[in-house]
Parts: sequence; structure tokens; C-alpha cells
Amino acid sequence: MAKMEVKTSLLDNMIGVGDMVLLEPLSEETVINNLKKRFDHNEIYTYIGSVVISVNPYRSLPIYSPEKVEDYRNRNFYELSPHIFALSDEAYRSLRDQDKDQCILITGESGAGKTEASKLVMSYVAAVCGKGAEVNQVKEQLLQSNPVLEAFGNAKTVRNDNSSRFGKYMDIEFDFKGDPLGGVISNYLLEKSRVVKQPRGERNFHVFYQLLSGASEELLNKLKLERDFSRYNYLSLDSAKVNGVDDAANFRTVRNAMQIVGFMDHEVESVLEVVAAVLKLGNIEFKPESRVNGLDESKIKDKNELKEICELTGIDQSVLERAFSFRTVEAKQEKVSTTLNVAQAYYARDALAKNLYSRLFSWLVNRINESIKAQTKVRKKVMGVLDIYGFEIFEDNSFEQFIINYCNEKLQQIFIELTLKEEQEEYIREDIEWTHIEYFNNAIICDLIENNTNGILAMLDEECLRPGTVTDETFLEKLNQVCATHQHFESRMSKCSRFLNDTSLPHSCFRIQHYAGKVLYQVEGFVDKNNDLLYRDLSQAMWKAGHALIKSLFPEGNPAKINLKRPPTAGSQFKASVATLMKNLQTKNPNYIRCIKPNDKKAAHIFNEGLVCHQVRYLGLLENVRVRRAGYAFRQAYEPCLERYKMLCKQTWPHWKGPARAGVEVLFNELEIPVEEYSFGRSKIFIRNPRTLFKLEDLRKQRLEDLATLIQKIYRGWKCRTHFLLMRKSQIVIAAWYRRYAQQKRYQQIKSSALVIQSYIRGWKARKILRELKHQKRCEEAATTIAAYWHGTQARRELKRLKEEARRKHAVAVIWAYWLGLKVRREYRKFFRANAGKKIYEFTLQRIVQKYFLEMKNKVPSLSPIDKNWPSRPYLFLDSTHKELKRIFHLWRCKKYRDQFTDQQKLIYEEKLEASELFKDKKALYPSSVGQPFQGPYLEINKNPKYKKLKDAIEEKIIIAEVVNKINRANGKSTSRIFLLTNNNLLLADQKSGQIKSEVPLVDVTKVSMSSQNDGFFAVHLKEGSEAASKGDFLFSSDHLIEMATKLYRTTLSQTKQKLNIEISDEFLVQFRQDKVCVKFIQGNQKNGSVPTCKRKNNRLLEVAVP
Ligand SMILES: Nc1ncnc2c1ncn2[C@@H]1O[C@H](COP(=O)(O)OP(=O)(O)OP(=O)(O)O)[C@@H](O)[C@H]1O
Ligand SMILES: [Mg+2]
Repeated sequence: MAKMEVKTSLLDNMIGVGDMVLLEPLSEETVINNLKKRFDHNEIYTYIGSVVISVNPYRSLPIYSPEKVEDYRNRNFYELSPHIFALSDEAYRSLRDQDKDQCILITGESGAGKTEASKLVMSYVAAVCGKGAEVNQVKEQLLQSNPVLEAFGNAKTVRNDNSSRFGKYMDIEFDFKGDPLGGVISNYLLEKSRVVKQPRGERNFHVFYQLLSGASEELLNKLKLERDFSRYNYLSLDSAKVNGVDDAANFRTVRNAMQIVGFMDHEVESVLEVVAAVLKLGNIEFKPESRVNGLDESKIKDKNELKEICELTGIDQSVLERAFSFRTVEAKQEKVSTTLNVAQAYYARDALAKNLYSRLFSWLVNRINESIKAQTKVRKKVMGVLDIYGFEIFEDNSFEQFIINYCNEKLQQIFIELTLKEEQEEYIREDIEWTHIEYFNNAIICDLIENNTNGILAMLDEECLRPGTVTDETFLEKLNQVCATHQHFESRMSKCSRFLNDTSLPHSCFRIQHYAGKVLYQVEGFVDKNNDLLYRDLSQAMWKAGHALIKSLFPEGNPAKINLKRPPTAGSQFKASVATLMKNLQTKNPNYIRCIKPNDKKAAHIFNEGLVCHQVRYLGLLENVRVRRAGYAFRQAYEPCLERYKMLCKQTWPHWKGPARAGVEVLFNELEIPVEEYSFGRSKIFIRNPRTLFKLEDLRKQRLEDLATLIQKIYRGWKCRTHFLLMRKSQIVIAAWYRRYAQQKRYQQIKSSALVIQSYIRGWKARKILRELKHQKRCEEAATTIAAYWHGTQARRELKRLKEEARRKHAVAVIWAYWLGLKVRREYRKFFRANAGKKIYEFTLQRIVQKYFLEMKNKVPSLSPIDKNWPSRPYLFLDSTHKELKRIFHLWRCKKYRDQFTDQQKLIYEEKLEASELFKDKKALYPSSVGQPFQGPYLEINKNPKYKKLKDAIEEKIIIAEVVNKINRANGKSTSRIFLLTNNNLLLADQKSGQIKSEVPLVDVTKVSMSSQNDGFFAVHLKEGSEAASKGDFLFSSDHLIEMATKLYRTTLSQTKQKLNIEISDEFLVQFRQDKVCVKFIQGNQKNGSVPTCKRKNNRLLEVAVP
């Protein structure tokens, strides 16, 4: 709020004139005096319109504090005393609010303060734009790119202790809110010759000194460096220390900055290794060595340095050594190798150092760009800051100065184009009355340098590409021929020259009259520097390096990618990049900072008028003021102007119907702006004085406040009314509901009162009626009681009479019945027999039995003996008959069934019956055998020729022939045997051969034992002492155990008339030779499947596991 009340202006407390447009009288002298006066009072900034003139104070002034930033933030350009912050603020706001890309062009000669100014602009923008972790990181990275690039690209010169030796253009990118997104840096031609040689009183690039002073011992050892500057040929000694500069501290700052920008540790290490390698390259020295052909060949004096470089960079020492001694020229598949003499070797060494360093620098810029590039693809607004090397005039000016000064010419040109020329042209275009102002247009100098056919750069390129001997002198000769007539070109020529008399001009030089002064260029080195040649052997050696960074810096060294075409020359490359830069700048809204250097001593408080006068002159400041003064400070198309100020006049507010120009006319008339203050152009209104514009702006601000109040008023009124209406509506609703509720309540009260009264009256009435009714009822009851008593008496009398009458009638009936009975008996006695009842009974019984049998005939069940059906009994007395009849019928149908059998079948059933008697409910195997027919001879010995011998040996009838397993007595394993049963004998034969193994007469078989379980094991016990029993009893297993046992039993019975003992037990003894072995059956596990297994456990036990 405080800020709004204090209306300050540029005019307040002014020292000299803040805006030189207001300077009176206007002359070179007054301009310089004004600058001096302001400089003496620490006012280093002065305006010419919107251009900021900055005079380098060479000391720190307290005008860049955060408070100052706040002061200038969002303030009108002319509101406060001139400042670089005001310009930055204007540019930033125009970018953010009006969506105009900006560029800030900072010009001035070396040491005038361009780099400082560019940093001030960046720091101001960083301070005022958005905040937040991400935005702050972007800002930090953008700001920290400066120390890194300054360490590698700046050096102390005689003019400036921190002189930028490269051109820098940085685009800062913003999003629609004005928050920084990232940036892109372009660099222009690093002055690489400085790497190998520095003029007197100057230094190499800062980084070399910073590294040697600031690196730890450990790092120096690693890089094979020594701290002593004097050890290195590339570091000139006379000015190694700069006053007020702490190289060691700066080294730490740079490393920190690299980390913030996003360099990885290994990248920093690689960069420092390259720097070390460059330093050490300078220490390689050569000596001549005579060869057989009489020519001198260079040899490296001390190979130690070379060895260390190779270790540092991972290059094969022999490869690099050879590259310093030979040069291979390749042309159309032919390779020619020539030796280098000492001078050529030094040239090669320096070229390598220069290339290595300048390529490292470009790599750094690209690496920084990678880190700071905007991460999004959204449309970006751009603010470009151009800090390019200032105009330079040295004692010895070479190719670099020529290039630098050419660039400055181009910048002056764009300044002229965009301000002076453009301004004048606009007045003419807009038909505004205008007196032409003379100014020097440097287009002619630009043309002298860059013209494609006869410009100096084109000549140089032509000379470089020309076959034959090319020297700097031939180049100068060519210049003398082509440019002799150019009025900005001077040279001393040998013959018939117009400059011949000018003895001030030395030989092998040419002079150009730049816009900023005359500069004498030494032609020496022009051709070489333009060619920028690095012997292919060297680039190939570099490409072979084990050091990844160095390898990547020399892609042309890759033998697979040999390009015989010459690379573009340094001059043409620079020309092209300057052209791109100019094109880029032209698309943006320019903001100018023109830096002036007050003295040559880098000292504070000294204002050298002569020096400043020179700069004021070549910067064209006077013309600049004149144009501003003659012209109009502000212009704007009619539509936006009307749109902006239409609220200041009743006719134009809120809508103007007619053309915009008429609207603006009406507006300006209404506001009573003096007519000399403005002019109407074709499409724009021109306002002469900034103050008029500020007045308009103030009025607009005031009006906007009024309008805001009006809007606020109406809005508040509307809001209150809506609120009131809502309240009223709500109140009505509430009242309605309340009334209804109150009335309902009252009604209920009245209703209940009425009911109470009503009930009292009704009660009273009812009681009255009740009393009357009760009286009436009592009267009626009395009458009824009397009547009842009377009726009772009457009835009892009648009842008595009726009872008497009935008794009499009954007596009559009984007597009558008796008499009738008597009468009938007497009449029928003669018709009845004495035993008729018994007869009837018998007949009835007979009839019932007859009926029973007849019915049974129809109900008899089927003839199947297993049919269990039998009809139910009809009479209880027939119970025993019924049961007997059932038994007889069953016996009869069984007989019937049996009668069907043949003899053979009978035998089979007999056998089955026998089996049933022997095993049913005793052996678990039995049920499974019931369904199996007993076949007896399963093995058909007769038919099998294999058993012919066996068949012949047996004469009797074979009852059983079957393969059984004979259990080995020793181990429980089994062997197959043919089991044969004949009428008298039991035989065992070999299954394969049919040979009889044992023969036992049935009389010797005493017993058969088996388990009660579901297995086929059985033992045949033999009579003790019999011949067959010598080997002991047999233990078999068979699938037809039941059948075999039954048949053995039957045969024994029929032959010996003795019942064979069949023992069923899960544990029985078997005689094996002399031993009695117990065969024990146990419930086995299922592991071995469903087959029972037999195992000899010990001498006395044979275990059969039954699943
Ligand atoms: N605004 C300033 N306040 C204080 N000192 C300044 C200011 N501007 C410049 N200087 C001083 O002047 C010196 C040179 O300034 P700067 O490096 O910006 O020059 P330059 O124009 O970039 O020169 P070159 O073209 O050689 O790079 C700075 O090192 C600093 O000491
Ligand atoms: Mg600089």
C-alpha cells in the first residue's frame, strides 16, 4: 500500500538528466558532461528512451540488493531512477504479460561491463520469476552455468581482468506463467590461440591457473601436474597472479557450479584430465635430427612428458610420437607420408593443444545445454541475453580481433536497423511529419567484410582453397587488389597505390575503419587460423585414445569416416553462425544495454572524457537521442489503444461503434490532451512524450479502480438483495408453517375440551336413563319371578301327571310282549331240530378252507428255489397250515429244480456243496470262489505235446492239473510246478519240462492247512515217516485254492474212506525236513500291490503278508 501512495518519477531528485531525451541543449559535450556528472554521483545508469547506458564503475555499488530488486519489481520503466533492473523488469513483464519474446543486447568494448550486465539481468529475472523447488533448481542451474563457462572461456587481458574470450548467447525459456523452464546457450568462436600464446601482460584461460592453485595434492598427482606455474610453457609468467582474484577459491566455486549444473564426478574428472593434457602438451619440445637425405627431421627431446600425457589420455605413445614426426597426406586412395621438421612439429603440437581445448569448450557448452534444457514440449516464451566479446583494438590485432570486430559491426547494424532506421521508416510509413536525422549506417563496413563475392572473408576463403603456394602475403595482395577502392579499407601497397604515401601504415598489415574506430590488422596468421588445420595423423591419434571424452572430441579421426573434403573454414563458420544469430534477434523484441568504459586503468572514480567521447561517438548515442527527441516516445495501433483507454471517456465506454481511429480521436479530445502531444498515423497513434502516456496510464488506473468499485458496488447490492429475497422467502415459509402448527394446536385443545363437556353431559344423561331403566327392570323382574313360580308349580303338576301315564303304558307293552312270545313259541316249536347249529358251523368251516386252497392255487409264487415270496395268511386259525404248506411247496420246487440236473452237474453241485460246508464263513477267500466253476484239469496235458512224457507216465484219471507256486522252504520265494491230482496220488511236475518232481500217495496226506484270509496259500502235510515226507511238507499258493482243497478232500474221502483234516488258522506249523516252521499270516501293507508276499523271517518263521 505504501508503494501505491508514493508516486515517484524519474524526475524526482534527478542528478543531471536521467533520460537524455530531456537533455537541453543537446550536444556531444552535454551528453558527456551529463554522463560524467551522474558517474561522479554513483549514478552509472542513464536512459535514452528505453535504451540503458551503463558506465562501468569498477567497484561494487550498493544498488543490486534484494531490496532494490523489490523496488523495481512491477514498477513503470520511468518511475524510478534509471537502472538495469528497470529494463529487465520491463522485458520480463512484456514477455510474461504480452507474450512477446525478448532479447537483451549488451554491447560495448572489452571491459565495459557486458558480462556483469548480463549476469545482473539474469539474477533479476531469477529473483522476480516464480518460486518453487523445481523452478529454483532450474534457476540455480542457469545461474551456475556462468562460473563454469567463465573459468574455461574467460581470461585476463590488458583491458579486462575477466575478459570473455568467446561470444555467448543464452536463451532463457519460460512457461506461460513466466516460470523459467530451462535454457539454451550458443557459443561463438573461442579465442583458442590464447591456449598456446598470450600477449604480454595477459593470461591464458582462468581454468589453468585455477586448477594449479586450487587442486589438492592428490588431484595434482593424479593429473601428473605440479603446482608451479613456471613449469608450463603455455602459461606466461609475467602476469600469472591477478590482483583481487583468488584462483584457488574460484576453482572450488567452479567445481561446485559444475556439480549444481549436473556434471557427474567422472565427467569433471575427464574435463580436468583434458585440461592437464593441454598444459603438458606445451612442455613437449623437439630437436632436429639429420637424416640420410640431408633433410632435418624433428625428434622429441624428452619423452617423459609425452609418456605422461599418453598415460593420462590412454593414447599409445608410439602413435602420438609418430604423429609428431610424420604427416600423411591422403589424396584419391594415395597415401604420402612426409617427415616434419622442428617448426612443423611445434605447429602440430600447438594446433593439437588449441583444438583439444576449443573442442573441450564446445563440449562443455553442449553438456551444460543438456542439463539446462527445458523438460517440457509446451510452447515456450524466450528471453535471449547476448553477451558477446566487445570491440577490440590491441597493439597487435590478428584474425581473432578481426572476427570479434566483425561481430560487433553486425550488432551495431542490427541496432541501427531496429532503432534508428526502423523508427524513421515507421514515421514515413505512418505518414507522420518527420525531419530526417543523419546517422552513420555501418552496413557498408559489414559488406566490406562479409560480401560473398569480394568481402574480406570471401577473399580469405578463396585464398585458403586456392592451389599453389598460399601465404598471408598473397592474401594481402589479393585484398589490395579487390578492396583498394573501398573507403573503409586502407593498406600500404608496393606499387601505384593511393595509400603509398601513408607511411604510418606498416607492411603486411591492413586497416579497417570500423564504426568504432580504425583497427590495424597484422595479416600474419590469417590463412592458418582460417584454415584451422589439424594434421590428420593427430586427429587419428586422438581418436584412438582410451580416454572416452578425447575420443569423442575427434570424430573425424575415425579412419572409417575419412572425409577428404575440407572442413568449412573458421571464417565462414563464424559468418554463418553470426547470420543465424542476427536472424534470431530480429524475431524478438530488442532491449539495449550499451556499456561504456570510463577509463583504461580498470580503476574506480576515473572518468576519462576522451575515451568516453570516443565511445559515445561510435555508439551513435547522440543520433539515438536526436531520433528519440524528434520522434514520439510511444506508438500503438488504434484498436489496442482504444481497447486500453476506452473506459476514460463516456462516448467510448463501454462500446465504441465507429472506426477505432475516430474512437481514439474522441477519447483524446475528451481527455483534453494537448494536440502537440500526439499525432495520428495511418494505423497508429503516436504519443510524443512518455509523460503523456503515464498520464493516460494513471487515469486508466484510477478509472479501473472506479470501475472496480462500481462492479463491487453492483455485485454487493445484488448479493445483498438476493440474500434479502432468500431470507424473505424463507421467513414466509417459516411463518406459514408456524401458523398452521399453532392453529392445529388450538383446534386440538378446543376439540378435547368439547369432548370433555360432551362426555360429562352424556354421562349425566345416561345415568338418568339408567336409573329409570333400573327401576323399570326391577318392576319387570318382580313380575317375572312371580310368573316363574306360578309356571313352575303348573309344570311340576303336569309332569307328575305325565309320568304316571307313561309308567302305565310301559307296563302294558311288557305284558303284551311276553304274551306274544309265549304265543309264537307255542306255534313254532314243532319246526326246529336239536343239532342244526353244529352242522351249520362245520359247513361254514369247510367252505372257508375250500376257499383258502382255491385262492392259494392262484397265488403260488415262482418255481425258483431262491424266491422268498409267500402269500400272507388269510385266517389266524390257518397259521400252522400256511407255514407247512410253504415248507412243502419249497421242498417240492427244490426237487423239481434238482430233477433237471444231469449227473455231471450233480457232481459239480455236490462239489460246490462240499466246498461250502468246508469253507463257508471260515475262509475269506471262499465267497470269491462261489462264482468260479471248478474245472479240475486247467492244464490240458493231453493236448500239449510238451507234456507228452508226463501224460504217458500217468495212467490214472487226472482230477486236477494246474500250475501252482511251490514256496521254497529256504527263502519263501516261489517256483512254478504242475500240480496233478489223480485218484490215488498227488504229483508235482516241472512246468517247463513236465518231469515229475514228487509223487505222494494220497494215503500219506494227513492234513491241509490254510489261513482264514483272502490268500491262496496252503500247506499239504504228509504222514510222518512216509517216503514222501522225507523232504517235509509242501507249501503252495494257487489261484484255485478252494477247488483244490475241496477236490483233495473228496478224492481222499472216496479213496481212503478217511476225512482229510483241513485246518484253517492264521498260524500253523509246517515240517520242513527236520524243522518245524511256523507259517504266519499277517495283514500286510499295500506296497506290493494286491499279491500276497512270502518271506522267510528266520529259522522258525515264514511270514506271509496278505494285502
Ligand atoms: N556494474 C558493475 N559494478 C561493479 N563492477 C563492474 C560492473 N560492471 C563491470 N564491472 C567491473 O568491470 C570488469 C569488466 O567487466 P566485464 O567483464 O563485464 O566486461 P566485458 O564488457 O564483458 O568485457 P569483455 O568484452 O572483455 O568480456 C568486471 O570484472 C568488474 O570488475
Ligand atoms: Mg565479457
